[in-house]
Amino acid sequence: MSDATLPDRHPRTESTRAALVALYSWNYEPEIDSLRTLYANALERQWIALRDLDWQSDIDREAFTRTFSMGGIPISETGFWKGLPLETRWNVARTSAAFLLSNFLHGEQGALMVAAQLVNAVPHTDGKFYAATQTMDEARHVEVFAAYIKKLDEVCPIAPSLKKLLDGVLAAESWQHKAVGMQVVTEGLALYSFRDMRNATREPLLKDLLTYVSRDEARHTGYGIKYLNAVVPTLSDDVKASLEDFAFESARLLVDSRAGTSMRDSVLTIWKEAGIDPVAGMAELAKERDTIRKALERTGGRRGPVRGFVIPTLRAIGLFSPRIEGHFQDMFDANLGAMAGRISDDATDVPQDLEAWVESA
Ligand SMILES: [Fe+2]
Ligand SMILES: [Fe+2]
Repeated sequence: MSDATLPDRHPRTESTRAALVALYSWNYEPEIDSLRTLYANALERQWIALRDLDWQSDIDREAFTRTFSMGGIPISETGFWKGLPLETRWNVARTSAAFLLSNFLHGEQGALMVAAQLVNAVPHTDGKFYAATQTMDEARHVEVFAAYIKKLDEVCPIAPSLKKLLDGVLAAESWQHKAVGMQVVTEGLALYSFRDMRNATREPLLKDLLTYVSRDEARHTGYGIKYLNAVVPTLSDDVKASLEDFAFESARLLVDSRAGTSMRDSVLTIWKEAGIDPVAGMAELAKERDTIRKALERTGGRRGPVRGFVIPTLRAIGLFSPRIEGHFQDMFDANLGAMAGRISDDATDVPQDLEAWVESA
C-alpha cells in the first residue's frame, strides 16, 4: 500500500470512542414511504469513479486558479488576484485547495463511519436500507477526493475543529443526535460548499467530480430532512432542546471565528504561508467592492452555508426555537458585528428539489 500522499510524520490511524445503541427492526414492510423512495433513487443513481470520470488529463493550472474564493469572497474575479503572477496564483490556489479538499476528504471518512453507524442505530427498516446506500456513496466520495488531491498536492491533516465535530457525532449515543450532527449540519455544510466550488471552478475534472458528489449529498441531506420531519414531532421538548444544542455546537465548531479555529481562519493562514499578507490582501480587495458584490449576487449572496442552508433545514424540521435562534444570532453578531443582520430577516427556504438545486447556478 502506497503512503505517498501522507506527510511522513502523520499517524496512519487514530482512535476515538464511538457509541451507539443498535436496534433490530422486526418490521420489514415499508413504514416511511419517502425513505423507501429515496433508497430506490439511490440504487438508480450509483456511479463508478474510475469509469465515469476522466482521470487522465493533467490539471489545467490557469483554469484551476480561476476556481478560488477566499473565505467565501470570489477573489478570483478581482483585479488584485488577476494581477498576481500565474506562479503565485497557482501556489495559493493549489495549497488552499489541498487544505479544503483534504478536509472534505476527512469529512467524507467521518460520514462513511457515521452512515455505517446509522445502519445499526435507526429504528426503521427503510432508514437502515437508505443508510446502507449512503455508506456506499461515502466510500466513493473518500475514493474520489483522495484521488483528486493526489493530482494536486499531499493530503493535509484534518482541521482540529472538524475532528472535534466528527468525534462528537461518532460518540453521540442516540441516532437522532447522529442524524442531526451528520445529515443536517455536516452534510448541509458539505453540500453547500461542494455546490459553491462546483459552480466556481473551471477545472473540468473537479467540476465533474463535484457534480457527481453533490448529487449524492443532495440525497443525504434529503434523508435527514425526511426522516427527522417524520420523527421530531414525536419527541419531548427536552430531547428537542438537546438536539438543537447539538446542531448549534456542531455548526459553531466550523464557522465561529471567536476561537480562531474556523475553516476561514485556516485558509487565511495558508494565504500567508503562500506569500500573501491577508491584511494587505483584504485592503486591496476592499477597493474592488463592486466587482465582488456583483460576483456574489451571481453566486447567491454571502449568507454562507449555515445561514444559507443549515438554519433553513433546522427550521423546516422543527428544530429552530427562538432560544436556539438567539444562540446563532449571538454568534453571527460576535463574528460580523453590525454587518450580520437579523436571522429572522433571511428569507431562505430549503430548495424543494435539492438535486436540481445543485446544478442551478
Ligand atoms: Fe459524502
Ligand atoms: Fe454525504
